[in-house]
Amino acid sequence: MKQLASGTIHERISAIPNSWYPAYLVRGGTKNLLIDAGINLLGPLYLKSIREIIAGPNPLQYLFLTHSHYDHLGGAGYLKRQLPELTIGAHERVAGLLQKESVLEMMNRLSESQRKLFQGLAGNEDVKIRPFEIGLILKQGDEFDLGGLSCRVYEVPGHTRDSLAFFIPEIKALFPGEAAGVPQGKGGEAVQVEFLSSYHDYLKSLEMMIGLEPEMVCIGHAWVFTGSDAGDYLARSLAATARYKELIENYLDAADGDAGRAIQAIVRTEYDESGTIFQERNAYITNLTAQVRHIAGLREN
Ligand SMILES: [Fe+2]
Repeated sequence: MKQLASGTIHERISAIPNSWYPAYLVRGGTKNLLIDAGINLLGPLYLKSIREIIAGPNPLQYLFLTHSHYDHLGGAGYLKRQLPELTIGAHERVAGLLQKESVLEMMNRLSESQRKLFQGLAGNEDVKIRPFEIGLILKQGDEFDLGGLSCRVYEVPGHTRDSLAFFIPEIKALFPGEAAGVPQGKGGEAVQVEFLSSYHDYLKSLEMMIGLEPEMVCIGHAWVFTGSDAGDYLARSLAATARYKELIENYLDAADGDAGRAIQAIVRTEYDESGTIFQERNAYITNLTAQVRHIAGLREN
C-alpha cells in the first residue's frame, strides 16, 4: 500500500504538516522523536502540529536529521529555539557545514524561493536558518531507546556524504531521507534518484536498506509505502539508479563527452520538454550538474 505522507501513518507515527516536506513524529513510550524538519518557513507549523499531537511543556526529546539539505533541516533551528530541551542529532559533517557562512547563505536563499508557495505560514516569526547546536553526532550502529520502540542509525552516503537512514526494528519502519530517491508522478509510480556525492555509494546504501526488509518506507518527500510496496519501492529506486546513470552516459556520448553540452541537452529534453519533474528548475540543474560531472569523471578514470 502507499499513502501520502500526511496525518497518521501508524499508531505511533504521524507525518506533519505538509506531505511535500514531511517531518515524521515517532511517539515512543518514554521519548518522542522527530525525523527531519523540512523547510524553515514551515517551522511554526511543525511546532503547532507537534503540540496538537503531544501535550505537555516538553513534547519532543529528539530531532534527527537525514542530511544537510535546506529542505530537511530548515526548521531545526526554529524548533530548538522554541523547545530548548530538544536534542538535535545529525552526521558530524552537518555541524561543520552549519559553521560556513556561504552554506547558510545558500540555504536561506533556496528557502526564500519557496516563499510564494508558503507565504503566510511563517507569519512574522523569525525562521532564518542560523547555526544550531547538534547535541548528538550520529553514526552507524547508534541505537536510541524510545520506550517500546528503538531507533537505529545507518550511514547511507551517496545522495550526500552525510546521509543517514533511521530504522525502527520493532515495526520495521525505514526513514531513508533522500537516499532512496523521491517518488514522482501523481501516484508516486516513478522514482527520481539523486546520487550527488557518489553513484557507487548510492547503490551500496540502497542495497543495504533493501537488506533490512522494511515493511514501511517513509520517504523524505511525499509518500509512505507499506507492506510489499515498501520493498518494491526500494527495488524500483535501485533500478532507477542504474537507468539514470545510463541516461547520463547516453547524453555524454551524444555530446562527445562534453559534460556542459550533455547537461544542456538533459535540461531541455528531460526537464523543459517532458514537464514531469516537480523539483524547482535551478535546484534540478545544480543537482544534475553534480551528477553528470561525477559520471563523466568515473568514465575518465
Ligand atoms: Fe536532499
